Order: sequence, then C-alpha cells, then structure tokens
Amino acid sequence: MEFIKLQPTMNGLEGVIEIPGDKSISHRSVMFGSIAQGVTRVTNFLPGDDCLSTISCFRKLGVVIEENENEIIIYGNGFDGLKEPNDLLDVGNSGTTIRLLLGILAGRPFFSSLIGDHSIGKRPMTRVTEPLKTMGVQIDGRKNGEYTPLSIRGGHLNPIHYKMPVASAQVKSALILAGLQAEGETTIIEKAESRDHTERMIRKFGGEIQKDNRTITVKGGQKLTASDILVPGDISSAAFFLVAGAIVPDSEIVLKNVGLNPTRTGIIEIMNKMGANLEIRQNAADAFEPAGDLTIKTSSLKGTVIEGDVIPRLIDEIPIIALLATQAEGKTIIKDASELKVKETNRIDTVVQELTKLGASIEATEDGMIIHGGTELKGGTVSSHGDHRIGMMLAIASLLCKDQVELENPESISVSYPNFFSHLNSLKN
Ligand code: S3P
Repeated sequence: MEFIKLQPTMNGLEGVIEIPGDKSISHRSVMFGSIAQGVTRVTNFLPGDDCLSTISCFRKLGVVIEENENEIIIYGNGFDGLKEPNDLLDVGNSGTTIRLLLGILAGRPFFSSLIGDHSIGKRPMTRVTEPLKTMGVQIDGRKNGEYTPLSIRGGHLNPIHYKMPVASAQVKSALILAGLQAEGETTIIEKAESRDHTERMIRKFGGEIQKDNRTITVKGGQKLTASDILVPGDISSAAFFLVAGAIVPDSEIVLKNVGLNPTRTGIIEIMNKMGANLEIRQNAADAFEPAGDLTIKTSSLKGTVIEGDVIPRLIDEIPIIALLATQAEGKTIIKDASELKVKETNRIDTVVQELTKLGASIEATEDGMIIHGGTELKGGTVSSHGDHRIGMMLAIASLLCKDQVELENPESISVSYPNFFSHLNSLKN
C-alpha cells in the first residue's frame, strides 16, 4: 500500500492558488456535450479520475471526445447519437457518473452494463433505479438493482411525478436526464434544495426547465444544442485551503476563480458564522455559474450547530469542516447528515475514526457528529480509506500536528484534485 509522510508546517501558509475545475460541472459538461447536437468546447475541465471515468464511458457509447488536460472538445450527436456499448461501462469511483448515466441510458433503446470500484459496489442505487423503473426502464443488479454490477435496457419512457425521499442532486439529475427523453412532462419535488448545475446546464444548452421552489418540471423530447463551457473552480476543493488558512497560525491564502453557486456555498455561510476571517470578491455576474476570489486569513473560531437545509449545500465539505471544528472554541454539532454514510466511504465513521487517531475529541451520532473544539492534534498513521476527501482532510490536519503524519492511500486524492499536494506545498514558506 502506498503511503506519504507529512510534516507539520513551521510557518504560516501564504500564496495564491488557482482552484481546479468543478467536478460536478465537469461531469455534466461531458454528458451534456455528448447528448447535444454540435461541438462543445470545455475550458478549465477537471482532469480528475472521476471525470476521466465519465469521458471513458461516453467514448464507449460512441461519442468522440478530444482531451488536452484542462480543455476537452466533445462532438455530440444528440441523444440518438449514443450507440450500444460493446464493453462494460466502468465508472470507477464516481457516483455522479453512474447515477446520471443511468438517467441518460434510461431513454436509449439498447443494452448496457455498468460496473465500478469496490466503493461504488457499496453505494445505494435503488434511489435512482426505482423511479427509473417506474418510468418503464428495465434495470437489474445485485440485490434487486440496489448495487453494481447493474444492467439497463432503455427505451420508451413515461413521465413521472416524483417526490424525492432523499436530498440528492445525483438522483434529481438522473430523473431530469430521463425526463428530457420521456413522452410528456416530468415533475420532481426535491426534499431540500441541492446543487442545481444540471438545471443551469440545460438552459445553457438551449433547453427549458422550470423551477418553482422545490418543484422542477421538464418536458420530454427537447433537443439540446452544443455550447462552450467555462468551468469555475471547485468550491469543494477550495474548502481544504479555506480551512487550512483559517486554522494554521500566520496564514493568508488567496483562492482564485472559485465557483460561488448559492447551492454550493454552505461552507462559506458556516465559516462566517464560526467567525472566519474570510473575504469574497465576486467576479462580474455570470448567468451560467457565478464565481469569485476568496481570501482567508488565520481566524479565531467558535463552535456552531450545522443542520437542516444547509446540509445538502455543504455535504462534501463536512470532513474538512469537522477538522475546522477541532480548532474552534467550544462544541460543534452536525445533524441531519446521515447521507454521509453512503458517500465514497461512510464519512461519519471515517472522519471520526481518523481524527480520533490524531487526538481530536469527536463522537459519531446517528446522523452526524459532535466535535469538541480546542484540541491539540498529535501525529500518527492514518488512512484515506480510498476516499479523496478524507485523504485531503488528513493532509490538512497534518499541518497542525505535533509530530509526523503517515497517510496511507493518498493516491485516492486524484479523484478530484490531482495537483493537491503541489498546491499545498506552494503555500509553505
Ligand atoms: C454530486 C452530488 C452530491 C455530492 C457528490 C456530487 C453531483 O451527491 O455529494 O459529490 O455532482 O450531483 P448527492 O447528490 O447524492 O448528495
């Protein structure tokens, strides 16, 4: 097993980082480029392992995609241009790839088989496969379609009126993508507002989608037209450096071009509530996806309660927020976050287990965790458990540890942030 030795930082962190492209938007740019008619050029694409899995699946579906690191060109031929793949569609570690792809394949009159890695094999799929079956698709898989490998034979789709039992952008997006191919109007009611990149992208590609509070309506049979996409930086990647800047003494970090879509900015709201020394300069208004520059300085933080509707707007940031809370004064309580159990790892367990090894005072609860702040962190051997966000959180924790940290399985970080360590090292004085 690979591991990396990480030393505490002697000085503050300083510098400017161009945050790499947003993972959710990069996935969707490949998907929409593939189902639209024409040539889509994507700039600041994230060449992380997850997005490369999406490219590989669409190539197997017959789409020509040129790739040049941060820029990709997709030659789309509409939904009808997708062809029956003669190989397994391997989504690797990517939940977004498999769930959204199922929505696209639901309307395609051919057979596909989908597989992924060990982590994907444990992630629930019924949340997508059940409503798709109601629309008329044949899907099968282990445990009656709950787990990979999955097989799908798409075709004619009936629209649905569906009240989502979980707050999930992946489920919502899969149903929207199926709805685009159904005969009639599909309505989806969200449990809580989740990231709206799919809705924004439909409009960007010339399609129509209505949103009234939490009710989303989309008409079937729409034709999408290619559109160039500029992907903003990923706020979920920026989050690691926001927290690093806030907790390492004598730091000042500027994060450039960070996506500031309001369905993703829960971390900014929570850090502000905790007292972070954070400045935001929004770029000129962009109707597609707003972005801006963030400056974070060492902060004196207070514990807080994180619960309710903000949870889906910071769900991926909870591991790094847990680390932030270990350095705040007082207690931080995270509730309503049982979705963490079905991420790349069970992130309630992995966060609690690994931060405890470093000396944090943190308890798991049924739907979140309780973190007692003001703890000094020590060194030790910890593991990413193959989860990119756990790996990055532990690397940031190591900056404050008294002794060396040995991080097992750091390679998983390339899922969303291939140049994470070079960015981190560039901040050290
Ligand atoms: C994502 C949605 C979220 C998030 C994931 C990416 C997306 O998952 O955790 O990393 O791109 O739609 P859920 O929608 O399942 O909560």
